Amino acid sequence: MARTYVVTGSASGIGRATVDLLLGRGARVVGVDRHDADVVADLSTPAGRTALVGAVHDRTGGTLDAVIACAGLALPEPVTVSVNYFGTVATLVGLRPMLAAGVDPRAALVSSMASFMPTDAILVDACLDGDEPHALDVASKLATSEESSGLVYSSTKAALNRWLRRTAATPDWAGAGIPLNAVGPGVVLTPMTQGWTSTPEGRAYLDEAVPMPLTGYARPEQVAVLLAYLASPENSLVTGQVVFADGGSDVVLRGEHAW
Ligand SMILES: NC(=O)c1ccc[n+]([C@@H]2O[C@H](COP(=O)([O-])OP(=O)(O)OC[C@H]3O[C@@H](n4cnc5c(N)ncnc54)[C@H](O)[C@@H]3O)[C@@H](O)[C@H]2O)c1
Repeated sequence: MARTYVVTGSASGIGRATVDLLLGRGARVVGVDRHDADVVADLSTPAGRTALVGAVHDRTGGTLDAVIACAGLALPEPVTVSVNYFGTVATLVGLRPMLAAGVDPRAALVSSMASFMPTDAILVDACLDGDEPHALDVASKLATSEESSGLVYSSTKAALNRWLRRTAATPDWAGAGIPLNAVGPGVVLTPMTQGWTSTPEGRAYLDEAVPMPLTGYARPEQVAVLLAYLASPENSLVTGQVVFADGGSDVVLRGEHAW
Protein backbone atom coordinates (compact mmCIF):
# COMPACT_ATOMS: atom_id res chain seq x y z
CA MET A 1 0.00 0.00 0.00
CA ALA A 2 1.24 3.54 -0.74
CA ARG A 3 2.92 5.28 2.19
CA THR A 4 1.31 8.47 3.50
CA TYR A 5 3.64 11.44 4.06
CA VAL A 6 3.11 14.92 5.47
CA VAL A 7 5.53 17.51 4.06
CA THR A 8 5.52 21.06 5.43
CA GLY A 9 6.79 23.96 3.33
CA SER A 10 5.35 22.06 0.37
CA ALA A 11 4.69 25.12 -1.81
CA SER A 12 8.32 25.98 -2.55
CA GLY A 13 11.97 24.99 -2.63
CA ILE A 14 13.10 21.88 -0.75
CA GLY A 15 9.57 21.02 0.42
CA ARG A 16 8.18 21.27 -3.13
CA ALA A 17 11.01 19.12 -4.52
CA THR A 18 10.40 16.53 -1.80
CA VAL A 19 6.68 16.37 -2.57
CA ASP A 20 7.41 15.91 -6.30
CA LEU A 21 9.93 13.14 -5.59
CA LEU A 22 7.57 11.26 -3.25
CA LEU A 23 4.59 11.59 -5.60
CA GLY A 24 6.77 10.31 -8.43
CA ARG A 25 7.54 7.25 -6.31
CA GLY A 26 3.84 6.56 -5.80
CA ALA A 27 3.44 7.92 -2.26
CA ARG A 28 0.38 9.71 -0.95
CA VAL A 29 1.46 13.19 0.20
CA VAL A 30 -0.36 15.79 2.29
CA GLY A 31 1.38 19.10 1.63
CA VAL A 32 1.23 21.85 4.25
CA ASP A 33 2.06 25.50 3.70
CA ARG A 34 0.75 29.02 4.16
CA HIS A 35 -0.56 28.95 0.58
CA ASP A 36 -0.99 26.57 -2.38
CA ALA A 37 -1.14 23.45 -0.22
CA ASP A 38 -3.49 20.57 0.67
CA VAL A 39 -3.52 21.95 4.20
CA VAL A 40 -3.15 25.71 4.48
CA ALA A 41 -1.81 26.53 7.94
CA ASP A 42 0.35 29.28 9.42
CA LEU A 43 3.03 27.56 11.49
CA SER A 44 4.10 30.84 13.07
CA THR A 45 1.07 30.75 15.38
CA PRO A 46 -0.18 28.27 18.01
CA ALA A 47 -3.61 28.35 16.32
CA GLY A 48 -2.07 27.49 12.95
CA ARG A 49 -0.10 24.59 14.44
CA THR A 50 -3.25 23.20 16.09
CA ALA A 51 -5.14 23.60 12.82
CA LEU A 52 -2.40 21.65 11.00
CA VAL A 53 -2.74 18.67 13.34
CA GLY A 54 -6.56 18.69 13.08
CA ALA A 55 -6.55 19.00 9.28
CA VAL A 56 -3.99 16.21 8.84
CA HIS A 57 -6.07 13.98 11.14
CA ASP A 58 -9.18 14.68 9.05
CA ARG A 59 -7.38 13.87 5.79
CA THR A 60 -5.62 10.71 6.94
CA GLY A 61 -8.00 9.22 9.48
CA GLY A 62 -5.25 9.55 12.10
CA THR A 63 -2.62 7.28 10.52
CA LEU A 64 0.62 8.51 8.94
CA ASP A 65 3.82 6.81 7.80
CA ALA A 66 6.21 9.78 7.67
CA VAL A 67 6.54 13.47 8.44
CA ILE A 68 9.09 15.72 6.73
CA ALA A 69 9.22 19.22 8.24
CA CYS A 70 10.71 21.68 5.72
CA ALA A 71 8.78 24.91 6.37
CA GLY A 72 11.09 27.72 7.38
CA LEU A 73 12.13 31.35 7.03
CA ALA A 74 15.55 32.99 6.91
CA LEU A 75 14.43 36.49 7.88
CA PRO A 76 16.52 38.15 10.62
CA GLU A 77 13.29 38.67 12.56
CA PRO A 78 11.42 37.07 15.48
CA VAL A 79 8.88 35.32 13.22
CA THR A 80 11.74 33.07 12.06
CA VAL A 81 11.91 31.67 15.61
CA SER A 82 8.19 30.93 15.58
CA VAL A 83 8.25 29.09 12.25
CA ASN A 84 11.66 27.38 12.31
CA TYR A 85 11.77 26.17 15.89
CA PHE A 86 8.28 26.26 17.43
CA GLY A 87 6.47 25.44 14.18
CA THR A 88 8.77 22.51 13.41
CA VAL A 89 8.66 21.04 16.91
CA ALA A 90 4.87 21.44 17.09
CA THR A 91 4.51 19.71 13.72
CA LEU A 92 6.58 16.71 14.79
CA VAL A 93 5.18 16.42 18.31
CA GLY A 94 1.60 17.06 17.17
CA LEU A 95 1.75 14.43 14.41
CA ARG A 96 3.74 11.84 16.41
CA PRO A 97 0.66 9.95 17.68
CA MET A 98 -0.51 9.53 14.07
CA LEU A 99 2.97 8.33 13.11
CA ALA A 100 2.89 5.80 15.95
CA ALA A 101 -0.16 4.29 14.25
CA GLY A 102 1.61 4.06 10.87
CA VAL A 103 3.74 1.44 9.14
CA ASP A 104 7.56 1.87 9.36
CA PRO A 105 7.04 5.40 10.72
CA ARG A 106 9.79 7.97 10.13
CA ALA A 107 10.33 11.70 10.78
CA ALA A 108 12.83 14.20 9.41
CA LEU A 109 13.30 17.93 9.72
CA VAL A 110 15.37 20.48 7.82
CA SER A 111 18.10 22.12 9.86
CA SER A 112 21.03 23.95 8.23
CA MET A 113 24.81 24.18 8.16
CA ALA A 114 24.08 27.58 9.76
CA SER A 115 23.57 25.63 13.00
CA PHE A 116 27.33 25.51 13.54
CA MET A 117 27.79 29.24 12.92
CA PRO A 118 27.69 31.66 15.90
CA THR A 119 24.42 31.50 17.84
CA ASP A 120 22.80 33.29 20.77
CA ALA A 121 22.83 30.98 23.80
CA ILE A 122 19.90 32.71 25.52
CA LEU A 123 17.71 32.37 22.43
CA VAL A 124 18.67 28.71 22.01
CA ASP A 125 17.85 28.01 25.67
CA ALA A 126 14.52 29.84 25.47
CA CYS A 127 13.57 27.67 22.49
CA LEU A 128 14.60 24.47 24.25
CA ASP A 129 12.65 25.56 27.34
CA GLY A 130 9.58 25.83 25.11
CA ASP A 131 9.22 29.47 26.16
CA GLU A 132 8.10 31.14 22.93
CA PRO A 133 7.30 34.59 24.44
CA HIS A 134 10.81 34.77 25.93
CA ALA A 135 12.39 33.49 22.69
CA LEU A 136 10.50 36.16 20.70
CA ASP A 137 11.59 38.83 23.14
CA VAL A 138 15.26 37.81 22.82
CA ALA A 139 14.96 37.61 19.02
CA SER A 140 13.38 41.09 18.88
CA LYS A 141 16.43 42.51 20.64
CA LEU A 142 18.86 40.62 18.37
CA ALA A 143 16.93 41.89 15.34
CA THR A 144 17.57 45.55 16.20
CA SER A 145 21.22 45.48 15.12
CA GLU A 146 22.77 44.29 11.88
CA GLU A 147 25.59 42.69 13.85
CA SER A 148 23.32 40.39 15.86
CA SER A 149 20.30 39.85 13.60
CA GLY A 150 22.02 36.98 11.77
CA LEU A 151 22.09 35.06 15.04
CA VAL A 152 18.32 34.61 14.91
CA TYR A 153 18.35 32.08 12.05
CA SER A 154 21.43 30.16 13.19
CA SER A 155 20.03 29.94 16.73
CA THR A 156 16.75 28.42 15.52
CA LYS A 157 18.65 25.70 13.67
CA ALA A 158 21.07 25.02 16.55
CA ALA A 159 18.06 24.73 18.88
CA LEU A 160 16.41 22.27 16.48
CA ASN A 161 19.57 20.13 16.42
CA ARG A 162 19.67 20.03 20.21
CA TRP A 163 15.95 19.26 20.42
CA LEU A 164 16.54 16.41 18.00
CA ARG A 165 19.44 15.06 20.06
CA ARG A 166 17.35 15.25 23.25
CA THR A 167 14.30 13.68 21.71
CA ALA A 168 15.34 10.98 19.24
CA ALA A 169 16.27 8.32 21.80
CA THR A 170 13.23 8.77 24.08
CA PRO A 171 10.43 6.21 24.49
CA ASP A 172 8.09 8.30 22.31
CA TRP A 173 10.47 8.14 19.34
CA ALA A 174 13.15 5.44 19.30
CA GLY A 175 11.12 3.50 21.86
CA ALA A 176 8.12 3.64 19.52
CA GLY A 177 10.23 2.59 16.52
CA ILE A 178 10.29 6.06 14.92
CA PRO A 179 13.65 7.26 13.59
CA LEU A 180 13.93 11.06 13.92
CA ASN A 181 16.66 12.82 11.94
CA ALA A 182 17.64 16.13 10.37
CA VAL A 183 19.23 17.22 7.15
CA GLY A 184 21.61 20.21 7.27
CA PRO A 185 21.85 21.74 3.80
CA GLY A 186 24.47 24.25 2.66
CA VAL A 187 23.29 26.81 0.09
CA VAL A 188 20.34 25.53 -1.91
CA LEU A 189 19.00 27.42 -4.91
CA THR A 190 15.48 28.26 -3.72
CA PRO A 191 13.51 31.50 -3.27
CA MET A 192 14.98 31.65 0.27
CA THR A 193 18.50 32.27 -1.03
CA GLN A 194 17.70 34.13 -4.25
CA GLY A 195 18.54 37.51 -2.72
CA TRP A 196 22.13 36.33 -2.14
CA THR A 197 22.72 34.02 -5.10
CA SER A 198 21.49 36.54 -7.67
CA THR A 199 24.10 39.24 -6.98
CA PRO A 200 27.92 39.17 -7.18
CA GLU A 201 28.18 40.63 -3.63
CA GLY A 202 25.77 38.01 -2.27
CA ARG A 203 27.63 35.17 -3.97
CA ALA A 204 30.99 36.46 -2.66
CA TYR A 205 29.56 36.46 0.88
CA LEU A 206 28.12 32.94 0.50
CA ASP A 207 31.25 31.50 -1.08
CA GLU A 208 33.22 32.52 2.01
CA ALA A 209 30.56 31.66 4.62
CA VAL A 210 29.41 28.40 3.01
CA PRO A 211 32.18 26.93 0.83
CA MET A 212 30.82 23.98 -1.18
CA PRO A 213 33.79 22.42 -3.00
CA LEU A 214 31.92 19.30 -4.09
CA THR A 215 28.99 20.84 -5.90
CA GLY A 216 28.74 24.59 -5.68
CA TYR A 217 25.22 25.66 -4.71
CA ALA A 218 22.82 22.73 -4.51
CA ARG A 219 19.50 22.11 -6.20
CA PRO A 220 16.53 21.36 -3.91
CA GLU A 221 16.19 17.90 -5.54
CA GLN A 222 19.61 16.96 -4.11
CA VAL A 223 18.31 17.55 -0.57
CA ALA A 224 14.96 15.89 -1.29
CA VAL A 225 16.56 12.50 -2.04
CA LEU A 226 18.22 12.46 1.39
CA LEU A 227 15.02 13.47 3.17
CA ALA A 228 13.16 10.77 1.26
CA TYR A 229 15.74 8.18 2.31
CA LEU A 230 15.62 9.18 5.98
CA ALA A 231 11.81 8.98 5.86
CA SER A 232 11.73 5.63 4.04
CA PRO A 233 11.46 2.09 5.47
CA GLU A 234 15.03 1.50 4.15
CA ASN A 235 16.28 3.73 6.96
CA SER A 236 15.99 1.39 9.90
CA LEU A 237 19.14 2.34 11.83
CA VAL A 238 19.87 6.07 11.54
CA THR A 239 18.30 8.20 14.26
CA GLY A 240 19.18 11.38 16.15
CA GLN A 241 21.55 12.48 13.36
CA VAL A 242 21.98 15.82 11.63
CA VAL A 243 23.19 14.76 8.19
CA PHE A 244 24.94 17.69 6.53
CA ALA A 245 24.07 17.78 2.83
CA ASP A 246 26.31 20.71 2.17
CA GLY A 247 28.75 19.92 -0.64
CA GLY A 248 31.62 19.93 1.87
CA SER A 249 31.10 23.15 3.87
CA ASP A 250 31.08 21.31 7.20
CA VAL A 251 34.39 19.62 6.55
CA VAL A 252 35.98 22.83 5.19
CA LEU A 253 34.83 24.95 8.13
CA ARG A 254 35.01 22.47 11.03
CA GLY A 255 37.79 20.15 9.90
CA GLU A 256 38.65 16.70 11.07
CA HIS A 257 37.74 16.95 14.77
CA ALA A 258 33.97 17.37 14.31
CA TRP A 259 31.75 14.57 13.09
N1 LIG B 1 17.76 27.29 0.71
C1 LIG B 1 18.81 27.06 1.48
O1 LIG B 1 19.97 27.38 1.12
C2 LIG B 1 18.66 26.38 2.80
C3 LIG B 1 19.83 25.99 3.48
C4 LIG B 1 19.72 25.36 4.71
C5 LIG B 1 18.47 25.10 5.25
N2 LIG B 1 17.35 25.50 4.56
C6 LIG B 1 16.07 25.21 5.19
O2 LIG B 1 15.28 24.47 4.27
C7 LIG B 1 13.90 24.67 4.57
C8 LIG B 1 13.18 24.98 3.27
O3 LIG B 1 13.70 26.21 2.76
P1 LIG B 1 13.70 26.53 1.21
O4 LIG B 1 15.07 26.93 0.85
O5 LIG B 1 13.01 25.46 0.47
O6 LIG B 1 12.84 27.89 1.23
P2 LIG B 1 11.54 28.35 0.46
O7 LIG B 1 11.34 29.76 0.87
O8 LIG B 1 11.64 28.01 -0.98
O9 LIG B 1 10.40 27.41 1.10
C9 LIG B 1 10.00 27.56 2.44
C10 LIG B 1 8.52 27.23 2.52
O10 LIG B 1 8.13 27.37 3.90
C11 LIG B 1 6.86 27.99 3.92
N3 LIG B 1 6.60 28.71 5.16
C12 LIG B 1 7.25 29.80 5.62
N4 LIG B 1 6.63 30.28 6.71
C13 LIG B 1 5.56 29.46 6.95
C14 LIG B 1 4.53 29.47 7.91
N5 LIG B 1 4.42 30.45 8.84
N6 LIG B 1 3.61 28.48 7.87
C15 LIG B 1 3.68 27.52 6.91
N7 LIG B 1 4.62 27.48 5.96
C16 LIG B 1 5.56 28.46 5.97
C17 LIG B 1 6.92 29.00 2.77
O11 LIG B 1 5.62 29.44 2.37
C18 LIG B 1 7.66 28.20 1.71
O12 LIG B 1 6.77 27.51 0.85
C19 LIG B 1 13.86 25.79 5.61
O13 LIG B 1 13.66 25.22 6.88
C20 LIG B 1 15.24 26.42 5.51
O14 LIG B 1 15.63 27.04 6.70
C21 LIG B 1 17.43 26.12 3.35
